[in-house]
Amino acid sequence: MPKKNLALLTYGCQMNKYDSERIAGILQNSGIGLTDNLETADVIILNTCSIREKAEQKVYSQLGRLAPLKEKNPGLIIGVGGCVAQIQGKRILQRAPQVDLVFGTFNINKLPYLVREIEEKGIKIADVNDGYDIENDDSSAIKREGSVGAWVSIMHGCNNFCTYCIVPYTRGREKSRSAGSILREIRGLAGEGFKEVTLIGQNVNSYGKDGVEGIDFPDLVSMIDNIKGIERIRFITSHPKDLSDKLIKAMAGLPHVCEYLHLPIQAGSDRVLSRMNRGYTSSDYLKKIENIKKSIPEASLSTDIIVGFPGETDDDFDKTKDIIKRVGYDGIYLFKYSPRKETPAAEFSDMAPDDVKQERFEEIMELQDGITLEKNKLYEGRTVEVLIEGKSRKDKEKFTGRTRTNKLVNLAPNQARGQEDLTGRLINVKITKGNLYSLEGILVSENQSVKASKQKNFDSMIP
Ligand code: SAH
Ligand code: SF4
Ligand code: F3S
Repeated sequence: MPKKNLALLTYGCQMNKYDSERIAGILQNSGIGLTDNLETADVIILNTCSIREKAEQKVYSQLGRLAPLKEKNPGLIIGVGGCVAQIQGKRILQRAPQVDLVFGTFNINKLPYLVREIEEKGIKIADVNDGYDIENDDSSAIKREGSVGAWVSIMHGCNNFCTYCIVPYTRGREKSRSAGSILREIRGLAGEGFKEVTLIGQNVNSYGKDGVEGIDFPDLVSMIDNIKGIERIRFITSHPKDLSDKLIKAMAGLPHVCEYLHLPIQAGSDRVLSRMNRGYTSSDYLKKIENIKKSIPEASLSTDIIVGFPGETDDDFDKTKDIIKRVGYDGIYLFKYSPRKETPAAEFSDMAPDDVKQERFEEIMELQDGITLEKNKLYEGRTVEVLIEGKSRKDKEKFTGRTRTNKLVNLAPNQARGQEDLTGRLINVKITKGNLYSLEGILVSENQSVKASKQKNFDSMIP
């Protein structure tokens, strides 16, 4: 039988990117290989995001573009998975008749069966049942995108119910994966030559709270830190209310944990934070930031911010700007509030008009760009460790990688090293220029050991 082709279009966050690696791996094992070409694909899957209304609209416009392909090739199977699918279920089949399959965020493991059913019986299926068992994920069936860094899911779902957010409805309640299965997956990755892991979950630092193992997130990170071959550990996303002193201590002491933290604040005003149900005040947040800065002086920080949340006044907005200046983030992911009808905030009064949201958005962008550039300029003249991820997409002559602080570095072509492939190597790079979105540098030397200065605190971290 000729091999079939899968085209996979992925939208949304790290969870969806990881799920797409699982979709590709699972279907590959049942004889459906990955292609970039929509025209020749036998199966097209959209892995969708519904965090903002625009993201959801994108799905339907993409489905519109796919309709002619289905007319040309009636055997084509069009599937919709991810968060929009989880929420809308069979309504997608009604709204977009070119779709054959709707599956959710809980039943990816069932995909080969669902595709076979459609092929054999010529039916349409919408199955978004919550039969998910995180322990049943077969990590050997993940088709990883890179060869240097890998995502590793440590938990599924979210219990926080921030009033604007749809994720608790699309991903269900928090479920932590057992430490044993996570460690097995990461040992396997180390064996395959991966150098970096990013532990992912909507709220990684509440890892283990639902479990019986008595292993919390700092404990888990300490165990991963001992895995030979893994040079760098990152994690995303941390919720400020669950960021413990123990985790900050672990980050400061464990040699492989990178000096980078993404800590979404969302807004600077306590009134808005409370209406968002975030569970912390701006001063709680700042205290944690101070502790991080004291314990990990070189740490770089990023955050998520929403502008134009219902009822946000000029005064509230000023408080968001104040906090941005006080923290001095290396980067911000900035969003205009988008009402999601499944969430409580969609019913709140005082919706901000679009032009106010746009103005506030631009004001913060400008403020943050200035801060980011200033921060990146501070790297000029310094020598930093870079993990090379491969050739730059824009300029095939250049290698590209990241600092431990998560800054993108483009390396000048190096005469002495000729064409040698540096992918996966840890090297020391002298930074020659700090730009807004990246740093430029030249290779100085190969770096075989992780930061010795961190080793001192390490012993006290073993649980
Ligand atoms: N679990 C993570 C992030 C989840 S979604 C956390 O709690 O930080 C990523 C970001 O999207 C959120 O941090 C928030 O800033 C933004 N976001 C979520 N819902 C939104 C909405 N309805 N409108 C605008 N931005 C939203
Ligand atoms: Fe959404 Fe809040 Fe959960 Fe993050 S913590 S996923 S913003 S509900
Ligand atoms: Fe989007 Fe779902 Fe992630 S809504 S942001 S893909 S969890």
